[in-house]
Amino acid sequence: MSVEHKIPEREKQQGEWTPKIVGFCCNWCSYAGADLAGTSRFQYPSNLRIIRVPCSGRVNPHMVIRAFQKGADGVLVAGCHPGDCHYATGNYYARRRMLVFKRLLEYVGIEPERFQARWISGSEGQKFAENAIKLSEEIKALGPNRKLRDVR
Ligand code: FES
Repeated sequence: MSVEHKIPEREKQQGEWTPKIVGFCCNWCSYAGADLAGTSRFQYPSNLRIIRVPCSGRVNPHMVIRAFQKGADGVLVAGCHPGDCHYATGNYYARRRMLVFKRLLEYVGIEPERFQARWISGSEGQKFAENAIKLSEEIKALGPNRKLRDVR
């Protein structure tokens, strides 16, 4: 068994493994959608840790790599629907950047399904919850991410 596929003792002891997912949500739509999901009491997995960013266009691929290095098993970038960006074109830049970045992740050996982008408005709390559940299940099926982790 290679080092990168070794499951840490702590995870073995915990029994059922749950993935860690980092969600970069734009302040104007997706974060509001997540908030609405919460206030509407739509249940979604607590393993999705949300980081509020001003716009999906603010998410630099380096931030995604850093999340994987720090132990994320999956990363979500969520922003306003195309055409609805508060900064007019931020999500268009994000969309192009993420398409290329996804191919780069595949090239370095990370399953592209670990990195996903979604467009969710502030009124789509249910959609946010549904996407969070679906993403969590998909990442769980892939298992723990052992690539790009910081060496300790
Ligand atoms: Fe939401 Fe730009 S402000 S994607």
